[in-house]
Amino acid sequence: MTAFSADQQTERSGRSAARFPQDFRWGAATSAYQIEGAAAEDGRGRSVWDTFCDTPGAVLGGDNAAEAVDHYHRYREDVALMADLGFNAYRFSVSWPRIQPTGAGAADRRGLDFYSRLVDELLAAGIEPWLTLYHWDLPQALEDRGGWPERDTALRFAEFAALVHGALGDRVRNWMTINEPWCAAYLGYASGEHAPGRREPAAALYAAHHLLLGHGLALEAMRGQRRDTRIGPAVNLYAVTPATDAPEDLDAARRIDGLQNRFFLDALLHGRYPADLLADLAPFGFEDCVQDGDLEVIGGRNDLLGINYYTRHTVSGLPGDGVQAVSSPFSSVSPWVGSEHVRFLGQGRPVTGMGWEIDPDGLREVLDQVCRDYPAVPLYITENGAGYEDAPDGDGTVQDPERIAYLDAHLRTCQEAIADGVPLKGYFTWSLLDNFEWAWGYSKRFGLVYVDYATQRRIPKASAAWYARVIRQGGLPD
Ligand code: NOJ
Repeated sequence: MTAFSADQQTERSGRSAARFPQDFRWGAATSAYQIEGAAAEDGRGRSVWDTFCDTPGAVLGGDNAAEAVDHYHRYREDVALMADLGFNAYRFSVSWPRIQPTGAGAADRRGLDFYSRLVDELLAAGIEPWLTLYHWDLPQALEDRGGWPERDTALRFAEFAALVHGALGDRVRNWMTINEPWCAAYLGYASGEHAPGRREPAAALYAAHHLLLGHGLALEAMRGQRRDTRIGPAVNLYAVTPATDAPEDLDAARRIDGLQNRFFLDALLHGRYPADLLADLAPFGFEDCVQDGDLEVIGGRNDLLGINYYTRHTVSGLPGDGVQAVSSPFSSVSPWVGSEHVRFLGQGRPVTGMGWEIDPDGLREVLDQVCRDYPAVPLYITENGAGYEDAPDGDGTVQDPERIAYLDAHLRTCQEAIADGVPLKGYFTWSLLDNFEWAWGYSKRFGLVYVDYATQRRIPKASAAWYARVIRQGGLPD
């Protein structure tokens, strides 16, 4: 594909913008561990990701996030960048070990002060802060006591949530409790690709339940403090399609949709686990960790639902049939928990630099599934974006036409969904800045803004100019 600038992109289409609602939230998302750095400053404790990065072979290139993109010291510059791009909202997360270095006890004032300064800076720039409480950086001290497979971690999380909400609830209206609990549970405790790197299928299921319980307990604690904040989870949802109508493929799709989507949505929005999954998971002793009353705590009282969408899974339960396999965050986990013998198949669509198939229609299917099965909760795309190995051209600019095409296609889907009545109220692209992409280290770049990791210099990519124009116009070119 030929590179083109934001101006050319608009000229190319040269027509009027399809409108999003006036009060639509436009922004980008980040997370503390991936951007902050300053890992040993101001009393911050260690997180499971610090430990994981120290484990030989765990992270590509032996990378770590001790410095990351130094947002802790450069947050003013980063907020100014967002203001230049015209954001009216920004999603970030709070580092739990900055607030409670050992995962318990009183808040460290220095940690809270950092987020307080960040929030004030955002508000002064006219940008609404959207705060995520848990984006995977569990205090190592809590993992040493068993981590998320232990019920106590959910109780500790609620205490942490109350400390942050107590300090910032006067200025932050929108709160997300847990980010992508599927990844935290399954990549952390089943496949071991993410911190803390454990490979214990039953523990992963316990972790999933306790993350959800943590969400519910945190929500209760925060509601007890004040009623004027809006609270909900951010879940990673996938469109799931059977490769054929063969019963084995239909069952594979049922199981993957179940483990990935319905397990979390049913619990969070209906206060129950799907019966078919409970039967599948019985051999792992899943229900042993579910106590009376837990599902009432977890379910049904959200003010919003955050949806992170990246790709579709096309799955087969049949033995190999020659279709090319596709990279999927699930494929590494599938041998582990209730999804044995599922293959993830490529359908020949273009893929991003992560190897994930680009499928904006899948986003529409996800939105429709949520509206149909879980009506009446306002929806926000809390992550959507594409990772590549971007690099500056000879003239120092960064051209990323594939990212522009990805964002354009997914925003077009959002716009159509809204026109059809889907209660979608905002869109946060992943991500503002290139950053530490977990087990991939710094090898994959998701930012609108390129970061030269040697100097920490920020260079807005062509996609940043394109996105700023979309925001300014309140929509896409026709
Ligand atoms: C989901 C996660 O929430 C985020 O941390 C990650 O970097 C992106 N997806 C891209 O993989």
